[in-house]
Amino acid sequence: MIDYLDQRCRARCERLRDCRAPATAAVQRPELHRPPHGTSWMSTGDREVDSAEGVAGTTSRIWRVAAPATRLTIAAEWHAEVAVLRHHAAARMRRGVARSLRRRHPALHMLEQLRLLPVVALEDASLAARLGDALIAGKLPCAEITFRTDAAEQAIATLARDERLLVGAGTVLTTDQVDRAVDAGARFIVSPGFDAAVVRHCQHRNVAVIPGVATPTEIQMALGEGLDMLKFFPAEANGGLATLAAISPAFPAVRFVPTGGIGPHNVAAYLAHPAVAAVGGSWMVATQLLREKNFSAVARLAAEAVALTRTTVRSSP
Ligand code: 3PG
Repeated sequence: MIDYLDQRCRARCERLRDCRAPATAAVQRPELHRPPHGTSWMSTGDREVDSAEGVAGTTSRIWRVAAPATRLTIAAEWHAEVAVLRHHAAARMRRGVARSLRRRHPALHMLEQLRLLPVVALEDASLAARLGDALIAGKLPCAEITFRTDAAEQAIATLARDERLLVGAGTVLTTDQVDRAVDAGARFIVSPGFDAAVVRHCQHRNVAVIPGVATPTEIQMALGEGLDMLKFFPAEANGGLATLAAISPAFPAVRFVPTGGIGPHNVAAYLAHPAVAAVGGSWMVATQLLREKNFSAVARLAAEAVALTRTTVRSSP
């Protein structure tokens, strides 16, 4: 009898492994992960899976006649299979998201490849070209020019003329700033928080948008707008990696750009986190360095950060 039950259980698990629908169901239905304490749990799972596969509830019947020890064997196998399916389903979801990002906004794909986003508050737009050259020399051809200074629009326009650079606008708070940034040539928009009007206007202008989030509620609001790359801000003040590690498993489709309080001392740890698409920060392009026109330091700090992206291995989800 036990052999027969084992056989049934294994056969069902084989079918599950090849079947997308139950894998997704396993991720979406928390009751499938409950400890297997009784027939009702098993029957619920069987109905779900069996109906998805077009198989009648044979295993439910087996469960009802099985001895307690056999039930435990079946339940343990089932539990292990669900864990494996959940892992594969999450990985599939992430691959799907990466594909859709590539399709929708090449800028986000490039950002994910670069893995670093220098956040710039440039006070003198005439320095923009030298800043761009320094970033290119540091092999980090990318910048988020924040609307914290009056020079932002002109700086974006100057940098956007250089085709080697990926230039976006940051600290974007209004739809008017979206328009000014996009008209100046920005290829992505970053906001410190989530504002549906700003997000929708970016979508209307067909420009990539990365709003800031700090809580699960804000992440869900962003997901509701169809977004899946979000700025975790201010990262360190919100609990840093510990918070990210606690929140991100609930949102396997989301990739984060943690920003705020990150520098050479902690950037590698963020880069290693599997939910992190890229890390944002101003340490490579600090306002003081720009005031001093110390572009060799900008190039050096950028190069050092890039070296970390090459040596840091992402941990498994
Ligand atoms: C931002 O606007 O994204 C942040 O101010 C950057 O944070 P940092 O200066 O701590 O890197």
